[in-house]
Amino acid sequence: MADGTKVADVDEVPESGSYLFTAADAFTTETEIVLVRCDEEPGVEAWPNTCTHERQRFDRGDGAAVRDGEIVCPRHGSMFDVCSGACDNGPAAGTELPDVEIEVESGSVFLTDDNYSFLHAGGIDDDGHGSTSHISL
Ligand code: FES
Repeated sequence: MADGTKVADVDEVPESGSYLFTAADAFTTETEIVLVRCDEEPGVEAWPNTCTHERQRFDRGDGAAVRDGEIVCPRHGSMFDVCSGACDNGPAAGTELPDVEIEVESGSVFLTDDNYSFLHAGGIDDDGHGSTSHISL
């Protein structure tokens, strides 16, 4: 059994796009994290939902733009490798998204990073009552 909190089933992570969830960081500040598909094991990676260039969300509630294995920043177009988080282009060139540790077990994704505690699916403002959630139950 993975030593963490279940976030989602792997099947819920779109092949092209992202699965957005909210966690509390080490300072108990709410922060958004995205799950994206990656061709390397374990098939899913997790990254903060914030560009390294400026505070721009990749996933604004309807999935991040993912093209050819890269997350595309909607503000200035820098692209980040879905598997490594590295960026070699645009204004964010030379940066890497900070790692968020997850484990995949029996088709489920678990948040195992000691710096984050899972809060809920969707973005910070998605309290389950709004109409902006892209989560279908
Ligand atoms: S904010 Fe992402 S590339 Fe500028």
